[in-house]
Amino acid sequence: MSATKKPLHVTITGAGGQIGYQLIFRIASGQLLGPDQPVVLRLLEIEPAMKALQGTVMELDDCAFPLLSDIVTTTDANVAFKDCSWALLVGAFPRKQGMERKDLLQTNGKIFGPQGRAIAAHAAKDIRVCVVGNPANTNCMIARLSAPEVPPERFFAMTRLDENRAKAQLAKKAGVAVKDVTNMTIWGNHSATQFPDAWNARIGGKPAHQVIGDEAWLRETFIPTVQQRGAKVIEARGASSAGSAANALIDMVNSIRAKTPGDDWTSLAVPSRGEYGVPEGLQFGYPVRCDGNGGYKIVEGLKLDAFAQEKLKATAKELEEERDAVKQFLGA
Ligand code: NAD
Ligand code: LMR
Repeated sequence: MSATKKPLHVTITGAGGQIGYQLIFRIASGQLLGPDQPVVLRLLEIEPAMKALQGTVMELDDCAFPLLSDIVTTTDANVAFKDCSWALLVGAFPRKQGMERKDLLQTNGKIFGPQGRAIAAHAAKDIRVCVVGNPANTNCMIARLSAPEVPPERFFAMTRLDENRAKAQLAKKAGVAVKDVTNMTIWGNHSATQFPDAWNARIGGKPAHQVIGDEAWLRETFIPTVQQRGAKVIEARGASSAGSAANALIDMVNSIRAKTPGDDWTSLAVPSRGEYGVPEGLQFGYPVRCDGNGGYKIVEGLKLDAFAQEKLKATAKELEEERDAVKQFLGA
């Protein structure tokens, strides 16, 4: 019962931005941590966005959410991450049309070292960190390496939006419901080098590539569509995805909290320990099964043909280049 559970603290950085606005109400209504789990929202922003954030807080009050125990707004990361069990690192600048996400490295990379240190100093013992701000994988690696006191497997970068996009594209092509598409892996970086793997995915339990039966479409249409979907949304909206990004983050947290059903898996960018030949320490998108107690295992032994192996190499190489480009922020 909600009256008996202790509230959990959820920190949202960049809470005054577009994803923040899509996220906050859903979390306060129980969609992140469940319908019987009270939450304290800890909202971090930079000074220029504080006024808009106060407006959002007024709206939160006006919703009278029964699960919302308290709201803290602050510009101080040490306050924002106090007692926090879930740190949702959204606050970072979005790319504009014509940019790649890695063009944001120098602007956004410097945000994540101090936040990693504040998490290590103030968060709750069960802290989990989910990074959305782009370039998400490398920002997540910066936060993780800046918080050596926190176990590395508590840090996740978001590839769930790509997973959802890939499932939607395959379902449309196959003429099936999205729920029939399972075992979708987004290998590597949340970028244009990611590899959405239709060869290990399944549709109605069968290999997705066999059900689709059109290798040319998979290679020349499906992969680039998923890789470029964020850019297409920016082109159409004049702003980067927000509703779908917030939705993916809620899906991601729910997947980490729950036991992965049956023989399915989900895509999470987690620290590589060399699985599938990926250099150790990169924050890499893998197929992952969660155990329902906050732990997870990377699914090993999947078949990757020469085409897939090339794709994995390319996305790992890009992540190595990103790591080299942010050396000044690592553990600083
Ligand atoms: P936005 O510009 O609307 O909001 C970002 C907010 O972050 C702003 O309110 C800004 O004031 C705040 N901010 C900036 N620096 C901060 C700091 N140091 N501490 C706290 N807050 C800070 O952008 P948005 O559309 O909400 O997107 C946020 C980020 O998420 C962008 O980097 C975007 O590219 C990324 N994104 C990632 C995915 C993904 O799938 N991983 C999907 C969509 C967007
Ligand atoms: C997305 O994939 O929609 C986000 O990463 C935003 C972007 O820059 O594409």
